[in-house]
Amino acid sequence: MRELLLELILCSHGHRRGTTHVRRSQTPCEMSDSEDDDIPQLSSHTLAALQEFYAEQKQTINPGGDDKYNVGVIEENWQLSQFWYSQDTALRLAQEAINAVGEGGRIACVSAPSVYQKLRELRREDISVYIFEYDRRFAIYGDEFIFYDYNNPLDLPEGVAPHSFDIVVADPPYLSEECLRKTSETIQFLTQGKILLCTGAIMEEQAAQLLGVKVCKFIPEHSRNLANEFRCYTNYDSGLDCET
Ligand SMILES: C[S@@+](CC[C@H](N)C(=O)[O-])C[C@H]1O[C@@H](n2cnc3c(N)ncnc32)[C@H](O)[C@@H]1O
Repeated sequence: MRELLLELILCSHGHRRGTTHVRRSQTPCEMSDSEDDDIPQLSSHTLAALQEFYAEQKQTINPGGDDKYNVGVIEENWQLSQFWYSQDTALRLAQEAINAVGEGGRIACVSAPSVYQKLRELRREDISVYIFEYDRRFAIYGDEFIFYDYNNPLDLPEGVAPHSFDIVVADPPYLSEECLRKTSETIQFLTQGKILLCTGAIMEEQAAQLLGVKVCKFIPEHSRNLANEFRCYTNYDSGLDCET
């Protein structure tokens, strides 16, 4: 953004060749090819960045709206290690959780907001779902949002009783032993038994030691390509062992 502002300032002081034009009366997303020497010019790169900036500024979530459960409605913040699942993966994990708990079941989504969103999008009102998250933007989900920091694994509100969830779906933010160990404390506190963990393929051994989970055939995918290979792990016979 600093580079963008710099270019905007430079632009207001002079013209440049080979760049895209912007009319004074237009927002940056309304680009024009017209020639006008009096008009400041921005590079296409800057225009794209500016357009993205405006789109982010415009992003408002209507708390009562139908789209508030769309996966991706809250932008990824890479500083918080946020990489959202693809729609298909979020759906597959949500359906797996529903099948695992059955009617009237209770599901905890720990650092896995897309699974929470997909579960709510499916409108299974008979199922209780809670989102344990560090990012307070997810507080738009009201009483179902529970602030959670893996660094303090058992620092949870009093109302959260031990072993009060039929399944815990978790995706820890970092691929480190410390992060998995601490997240595992939370998982073991919350679950009555079932665990569905998504994390890096490199965590397989540690996940088996800490949680007794085994790798599944299903390979989770993200909305953006990630360099690290991801896997799902469960401690029960799950539908994720079928590839489709
Ligand atoms: C690798 S992402 C998993 C998200 C998952 N792929 C999804 O689409 O729902 C890690 C998650 O951990 C959360 N997170 C970041 N810092 C955290 C912290 N200190 N404690 C708990 N969760 C944290 C992020 O906000 C993010 O939702």
